[in-house]
Amino acid sequence: MFPLIAPRAQPRTGSFTFERIIMATSRRAFVTAAAALSGAALLPSRLRAGLLEAVAPARKPLRILVLGGTGFLGPQQVEYALARGHTLTLFNRGRTNPELFPDVEKLEGDRNDDLEALQGRDWDVVIDNSASLPRWVRQSAQLLKEHAGLYLFVSSISVYADFSPPGMTETATVGTLDDPTVEQITGETYGPLKALCEQEAERAFPGRALVIRPGLIVGPGDTSDRFTYWPVRIDRGGEVLAPGRPTDPVQIVDVRDLGQWMVRLVEQGTTGVFHATGPRAPLSIAEMLYGLRAVTSAEVSFTWVDADFLRDHQVRPWADMPVWVPPRDGMQGFARMDCAKAIAAGLSFRPLADTGRDTLAWFQTLPPERWERRRAGIAAEREQGVLAAWHARGG
Ligand SMILES: NC(=O)c1ccc[n+]([C@@H]2O[C@H](COP(=O)([O-])OP(=O)(O)OC[C@H]3O[C@@H](n4cnc5c(N)ncnc54)[C@H](OP(=O)(O)O)[C@@H]3O)[C@@H](O)[C@H]2O)c1
Repeated sequence: MFPLIAPRAQPRTGSFTFERIIMATSRRAFVTAAAALSGAALLPSRLRAGLLEAVAPARKPLRILVLGGTGFLGPQQVEYALARGHTLTLFNRGRTNPELFPDVEKLEGDRNDDLEALQGRDWDVVIDNSASLPRWVRQSAQLLKEHAGLYLFVSSISVYADFSPPGMTETATVGTLDDPTVEQITGETYGPLKALCEQEAERAFPGRALVIRPGLIVGPGDTSDRFTYWPVRIDRGGEVLAPGRPTDPVQIVDVRDLGQWMVRLVEQGTTGVFHATGPRAPLSIAEMLYGLRAVTSAEVSFTWVDADFLRDHQVRPWADMPVWVPPRDGMQGFARMDCAKAIAAGLSFRPLADTGRDTLAWFQTLPPERWERRRAGIAAEREQGVLAAWHARGG
């Protein structure tokens, strides 16, 4: 399985979402722009000052509780919800990016054993970003079921039992565990545990639960380095190892498109289960890589190396060649999820070039040595070694 578990988040070292304001393409111009904007904590005020895309106010302001809110996806929801005129409360331990959102109410606690700060309060909507254990969802959802109207649980596309059928809809069978009380999150347990979390949300909020199953979430601020590997690698130039067949499918969703859509869904009181990945039209790995080439001026070429050769040289899909999973061996449907229901409910997709450009610009604000500590993507020497071996056998 290729779990969508994000590697452990690190404190953010660069501003993370600049939307339309980041048009600078050179590193120097970008850093100047970033410095002028002086940090992530000011994002909401920048939004209100009209520096970002104009956001229309919601018809009815809501009181929204976000469980989490300061990692990767959460800040996108929070910023957009604030811009729409909602009142936000964040609940977390105060460890991840505590400098974010100084003007927003923050309740401190721990999903594991301390929910006291949630007692005796009412909200219109709960957005649960931070749970992968059913016990966590059970405890918070049971506590809040009389005190909130709608519970949005952020699940994962990893919930399914079988990834072989292309075009799966939200009705496909989810995975199960021999021991549903297991609390160790691994590649095998992550998906079925998320499925159990979904059931806890629906149990506490029958008919009032909204379950979103994102695919790979990408964009500025993603500390997992999966999609990020590609724009950064392509920007480095030279011969790039490109995996599998150019037609192999990939699916991604920009964190900004996802976070904003979630806010619009809760405004509408939407319930039910939705995939959340894209884009709208099928995307191949070649279209993605060639599309990302357009966001740099680096001199670059791509050498396509087949999946068997990569396997024989211990080049792992997903980890070494992020985003890509060869559509075979039971994974034919992994990057071919049916997103029609989400699209009909308003999920939209910004151009790949915007995601690639902004991700690259964000990554360039991080210290240069950060690339050496990346969490996904083959190391440069290994990449060159595999390419040399491929050429040596006539590839
Ligand atoms: N990344 C992907 O590609 C992907 C794909 C599919 C699904 N997902 C799902 O998307 C969701 C969004 O993740 P995100 O990290 O971006 O969300 P987020 O809301 O931005 O960040 C996670 C938040 O959870 C809080 N948190 C962590 N442990 C906690 C605890 N024990 N008690 C209370 N709060 C805690 C963190 O703050 P503190 O550390 O300060 O507590 C942080 O605010 C996750 O459920 C993930 O499984 C991700």
